[in-house]
Amino acid sequence: MSELIPVLTDEQLSETELAAIDAEIAHVPYPASVAIDALKIVQAQRGWVSDDALQAIARHLKMSAEELDGIATFYNLIFRRPVGDKVILLCDSISCWIKGCDALTQGVTNLLGVGPGETTPDKAYTLLPITCLGACDKAPVMMVGEELYENVDEQTLHALFGKGQA
Ligand code: FES
Repeated sequence: MSELIPVLTDEQLSETELAAIDAEIAHVPYPASVAIDALKIVQAQRGWVSDDALQAIARHLKMSAEELDGIATFYNLIFRRPVGDKVILLCDSISCWIKGCDALTQGVTNLLGVGPGETTPDKAYTLLPITCLGACDKAPVMMVGEELYENVDEQTLHALFGKGQA
């Protein structure tokens, strides 16, 4: 259960954000139906969804901030803390675990100097574990930004994050 969002702010959504969210609302009976889309829209603009931004979205969707935060927290591709320019999502569910995702996590840590939940000092990457990415037959799997990488091995990591590549 997420904590209560403590302070109401007057954070506003941008015209771009509002237009995109309203375009989604136009297709549904209740504004709250587009909660995940609205969170994605704001995250695409800002990189993550702060408490202030979450409250602004909730007001626009006519729902409580707590209710929206529950959705944002459940949906693990919505980032509620600042992240790097690219997020490395390393699947740690069963197929990827069997195929060595722990070693890959350590490999990323060795190359970039960050552990799970951490962001590189230059803010280029954040490393996060994630549950199944739906490509279990190609395990181990990870995403870097919008790109999905299958059958990941040490060579993949070196190509992506090795000296001169990151
Ligand atoms: S278990 Fe990793 S993609 Fe499904």
